[in-house]
Amino acid sequence: MTEAITPLTARPAWRALTEHHAAIRERHLRELFAEDPGRGESLAVEAVGLYLDYSKNRITDETLRLLLQLAEASGLRARIDAMFRGEKINITEGRGVLHVALRAPRGATILVDGENVVPGVHAVLDRMSAFVSRVRSGDWRGHTGKRIRNVVNIGIGGSDLGPVMAYEALRHFSDRSMTFRFVSNIDGTDFAEAVLDLDPAETLFIVSSKTFTTLETMTNARTAREWLLRGLRGDEKAVARHFVAVSTNAEKVAEFGIDTANMFEFWDWVGGRYSMDSAIGLSTMLAIGPDHFRALLDGFHQMDEHFRTAPFERNLPVLMGLLSIWYVNFFDAPTIAVLPYEQYLKRFPAYLQQLTMESNGKRVTLDGVEVDYQTSPIYWGEPGTNGQHSFYQLIHQGTRLIPCDFIAFHKSLNPMGRHHDLLLANVFAQSEALAFGRTPEEVRAEGTPDWLVPHRVFTGNRPSNTILAEQLTPEILGKLVALYEHCVYTQGVIWNINPFDQWGVELGKALAQRIIPELESEQEPALDHDGSTNALIRRHRKIGKRSKG
Ligand code: F6P
Repeated sequence: MTEAITPLTARPAWRALTEHHAAIRERHLRELFAEDPGRGESLAVEAVGLYLDYSKNRITDETLRLLLQLAEASGLRARIDAMFRGEKINITEGRGVLHVALRAPRGATILVDGENVVPGVHAVLDRMSAFVSRVRSGDWRGHTGKRIRNVVNIGIGGSDLGPVMAYEALRHFSDRSMTFRFVSNIDGTDFAEAVLDLDPAETLFIVSSKTFTTLETMTNARTAREWLLRGLRGDEKAVARHFVAVSTNAEKVAEFGIDTANMFEFWDWVGGRYSMDSAIGLSTMLAIGPDHFRALLDGFHQMDEHFRTAPFERNLPVLMGLLSIWYVNFFDAPTIAVLPYEQYLKRFPAYLQQLTMESNGKRVTLDGVEVDYQTSPIYWGEPGTNGQHSFYQLIHQGTRLIPCDFIAFHKSLNPMGRHHDLLLANVFAQSEALAFGRTPEEVRAEGTPDWLVPHRVFTGNRPSNTILAEQLTPEILGKLVALYEHCVYTQGVIWNINPFDQWGVELGKALAQRIIPELESEQEPALDHDGSTNALIRRHRKIGKRSKG
């Protein structure tokens, strides 16, 4: 039996890590730093403008050696190459996985079924740029001749979270004379609130959906169309000036009534949660302009090249992926907190939730065998310093081990008095407090009465990474997103699962289709669900219909 097909937990590298974990799990970061005060610099890597300090992790040189050995034994190098070569590594859907082609420079060659996809990528980018320039300059006008001032992206999941996150993250670079809104939820409130103060004559809708079949997006798109036509006296011709589509499915776009001349294409080798740099980024490009969008893509590409070529011991996504495996699989850590100390990154944790958990929330291997180890942790977080006054208590003194990724920037985009140094002081203080804590002796020495000492002790030994960059720019955002994309792939390779399908979302969608007519029918339907679901449906039919009056 070769190493590659030996079950993960039976591999020598895994077993060695299990033994090593037993030997060092009690070691405290206080000791590790006392033994090697230089680890703050030696366990840090700088690449493509991102600095990763991973010294406050519960690792030794031996841990790193074994984790790197695990990566080699899992065939990570070959699997990275397979992705970049366009191999059909998404085996359950028979597709290549080529978000890296979306940011490949003009002139690069990446083959899918023998065809170089890079020229097509740039053709779409050029069309997007031309369209964006027309809208931003006022050349593209609404049906009544008014300038487009509002852009509403309608999409969900990967067709929403990336655009929302990027818009918020890059707001500093956006055209402030335009209003951007994002509608995702099928809850009508989302649409109602998004357009409440908008003039239809000045509003452009981008219907973003890879499949163009998603219930939420199609329902919202139909509602948007009715809203527009109501506001523009029912003139159907208005649709062409106020609706564009982003999709892989030209047929469905045409069926919906959007001229495919107003469609920006992407491809089935781009996963939804990996698509913010495809035409799904049209709202981002409208906000920040084509040049900044190209800088964003360049940032992605630089991280792609780093991931593809850097030795694993200096490879940021590989190191972060391996460290997450160390905590999830050996320390049983259920979650990882991502804590950006940058207000513009307020939606970054939400974006990462889909990227990480829809990718690696899997329970069978590529061969369909149930795993006997944990896969994706739960990713969550909020921007600092807000989180400090909310859930950090649990991270510092709770019973669970929660590894944290702190993200911060040396320069503020809005320098204002002391704010930025105070912000940075907080992020550095948090990782210091988590790692080193405060001993009972230290607490007592402050004059704390004995009975209060246990409450005031910080055990420390709580690990974190700190990611620093100079300033949040489009280029840096691309690097950060690609860092996590490739960290997710690294995890998926080690766990031997497919990070690129999402069958887990199907059952709920199918059951909803069955329940819709049961809620809408005039006649009392014969219900055939479980007792709980039947009762919930009956209750809603009774109360919901009554309140509709
Ligand atoms: O339901 C999950 C999902 O398929 C995501 O993977 C995807 O990002 C989202 O729905 C939206 O899909 P689409 O872009 O096809 O509307």
